Amino acid sequence: MMVSDELKMHFPTEIVQEGQVRVLAPKLSALVRQPSDYAPSRAPVFYNPIMELNRDIAVIAFQAYQRAINRRITLCEPLTSTGIRGIRFAAEIHGANGVLIGDISERAVELARYNIILNGLQHCLTVQHKDANLLLSEHAAPHRRFDVVDLDPFGSPVPYLDSAIRALRDEGLLAVTATDLAPLCGVHPKACVRKYGGKPLRTEYCHELAVRLLAGCIVAVAAKHDIGIHVVFSHSTDHYIRVYAQIAYGAKRADAAVKSLGYILHCFNCLHRESAKSPFAKDAACPECGSKMDYAGPLWLEKIFDKGFCKLMAKENMQRALRNSGKIARLLALAETEAEAPATYYVLDRISDKLALPVPAVDTMLQVLRSSGFIAVPTHFNSRGIRTNASALVVKKLLQRLAAT
Ligand SMILES: C[S@@+](CC[C@H](N)C(=O)[O-])C[C@H]1O[C@@H](n2cnc3c(N)ncnc32)[C@H](O)[C@@H]1O
Ligand SMILES: [Zn+2]
Repeated sequence: MMVSDELKMHFPTEIVQEGQVRVLAPKLSALVRQPSDYAPSRAPVFYNPIMELNRDIAVIAFQAYQRAINRRITLCEPLTSTGIRGIRFAAEIHGANGVLIGDISERAVELARYNIILNGLQHCLTVQHKDANLLLSEHAAPHRRFDVVDLDPFGSPVPYLDSAIRALRDEGLLAVTATDLAPLCGVHPKACVRKYGGKPLRTEYCHELAVRLLAGCIVAVAAKHDIGIHVVFSHSTDHYIRVYAQIAYGAKRADAAVKSLGYILHCFNCLHRESAKSPFAKDAACPECGSKMDYAGPLWLEKIFDKGFCKLMAKENMQRALRNSGKIARLLALAETEAEAPATYYVLDRISDKLALPVPAVDTMLQVLRSSGFIAVPTHFNSRGIRTNASALVVKKLLQRLAAT
């Protein structure tokens, strides 16, 4: 196929530019019939321009990973739609030594194939018309495995986790998007237990719990293969969450990862929260107010950002002029400070509301907590959120004192 040939897609298309590539994509403005239409899903081939940030961060994270391991890397993106993500990996990651993309939709593969040629990447990028699990399973044998697998589905990534992990080399990097936040954030708890093997909770920090539930699910799937994981980065943006986990072969590594699973107990009466190895610890009575506590989990209790990896990503980001560079720099700066801070955060509006007090500025509250000797950092999960080692009781007392001044 020549790029100059008209591609007969039978639906409106347009050329879009993202990162260093140009791709032919569905013309979303022509596909929306009413304001409530979700244009990316209406398109015969899925395309969501809002996910540019997600793709930018993936490019930066994989480049940071490539620099850290200091050799050429192979990448796989088995749910590719237009091909834009994999095409960006091939075009923008120095040291990318072959990218394999795939999709189950014939139309998507046709479009992706066109886009590969449009960007002159035929020498290093291959597209296959195949079910993702089949494609990944064909790469589960030694010497066929990838350094990086990026799962970016519509909805839950869980159906692909097993084959993605089996298709990764030792110390490979798995990146996973989940857009099914209704189960993960506790709107449909049964669906979350069914899919992710952990109970969610509708708390003000449910997006962090969602990241921890997804990471916990990856741990459980990997452990069956005697593989452990280390979460190097994660973020919650718009309508999705994303987890980057480096895997490590070996039963001991798997055992260590399983040991990092546990529960977060939460008191809806006084907002106290704590981590525990069992949901029935202390008969689930809140140590602050005695109310019955609820729980989320099993989930990943360990770090959800690696400070060193955030620094490497920040360095990569600085060297690129992406449309989202500023946003990414702010996200990485927050993640770097969050990396060392306690799990879960307080949302000032929620806690002030409970106490019928005026809501202070985040910076003021951070200062008050720090001058009282506590760790206090903002969080990318919520612009009104604060991570601190102060208890809910202390946070409330300090809020009251602040309101009285
Ligand atoms: C959310 S879109 C991918 C978006 C893309 N990663 C990006 O960044 O633009 C999900 C894609 O997965 C494809 N898909 C769904 N089920 C699949 C399966 N079992 N195997 C392979 N592809 C599948 C769909 O056809 C769709 O194109
Ligand atoms: Zn309580």
